[in-house]
Amino acid sequence: MDATTVEKIKTAMDYERARNGPPEGFPALKPIPSARYVDPSFNKLEMERLWKRSWLYACHMDELPEQGSYFLWNKLGSPILIIRGKDDVVRAFYNTCRHRGGPLVKEPTGRRTLFVCGYHGWSYDHLGNLVAIRDPRDFPEFDKSCLGLIPVKCDTFGKWVFINCDEDAAPLSDYLGPVETEMAEFQPQNLRLAHKAEYDINCNVKVLLDAFLETYHLKSIHQQTVDRFLDHLGTTIELWPNGHSRMVTPNRRPEWKDPGSRGLPQLDTVGEIARDNNVSYNIYPNIVCPPSPTGMPFIVFWPKTLNSMRLECIWFSPDWGDGPLPEIWETRIANFERILEEDTQFAPQIQESVESDGFKGIPLSYQERRIYHWHEELDRRIGKGNLGDELRVVPLLEPYIETPRDARAAE
Ligand code: FES
Ligand SMILES: [Fe+2]
Repeated sequence: MDATTVEKIKTAMDYERARNGPPEGFPALKPIPSARYVDPSFNKLEMERLWKRSWLYACHMDELPEQGSYFLWNKLGSPILIIRGKDDVVRAFYNTCRHRGGPLVKEPTGRRTLFVCGYHGWSYDHLGNLVAIRDPRDFPEFDKSCLGLIPVKCDTFGKWVFINCDEDAAPLSDYLGPVETEMAEFQPQNLRLAHKAEYDINCNVKVLLDAFLETYHLKSIHQQTVDRFLDHLGTTIELWPNGHSRMVTPNRRPEWKDPGSRGLPQLDTVGEIARDNNVSYNIYPNIVCPPSPTGMPFIVFWPKTLNSMRLECIWFSPDWGDGPLPEIWETRIANFERILEEDTQFAPQIQESVESDGFKGIPLSYQERRIYHWHEELDRRIGKGNLGDELRVVPLLEPYIETPRDARAAE
């Protein structure tokens, strides 16, 4: 993070603590229509226009340790096979044989020299080319070159592997923009995969995701945990293009450190903002990442059905050397899970509420504007003409989206 951004954030935190209302001229946010959480037709648009056309986190390079390693990703209904090729390039394909749809792999991870379909033995190489079929005499004039595995866009940010089912998607780096620039200080190219867990939760994915975009809830549901060390009144927010955003919440005591990270290796490239405060990125649409010098989780939100979702928590750590993960991580993860339980405790009841006739939309405060920004980006993806007034969010925050300094300098 450059010196100008550091100063800007410090000034913004002082401003946030001292203000008596929203900044002059900041628009009153209109209620988010409740139908966005329950309407099947909206959900279908959201799935087609957002989830199936976004860069999404798939796996970490530690899960593709060798040439020929594969990772089977199956979060949104189309299983995708991610392969580390003999050239060390990571590629992704639908895990769907071009003959009659047999799966190429069934186990979540493994290693292959050839991907042979278990149904009738068609074989594909690590580039997805169909290289052999059984009984070719019975497929006269068959052109194997037309029936390679269907590719899915795949790219990396450090050791994080992302996929995108939209073949026309912009490159990952262009999409990430300021996220990639700012997170460079956490050395994503050197982080190791430390721990993974998944939780099924009975609510629409946006019900829970919304909760991770604001600190307004700290004083009630995190009274005994996060609220003791973070001052939500100093939270400062930047809204970025493509739906991304960053929030910085000051520690009540600057010298406070997570007891679950004592003695762990530290990234010496991390600057003072992330050392002394809680930084949290939303990598649009579904990653929430609060990074620290001793590692970070990706909290990843996946829709399952209209009223159910899966939460994935994946921890990354600076290199801890040989041997197993240091024991203190058990404390760190247990502390985090306690906070997560606080965050998820009301989710099923809130889902009941959003389905209730008593739910009439969501009035959001200035503090909660990242949620509004998230929803405005969703509407940009869905397209103006595809939503009726009863479903769409009134666009208000575009003037507040900041063009990152680096990009401005390059123009
Ligand atoms: S379905 Fe794969 S070889 Fe027939
Ligand atoms: Fe929370």
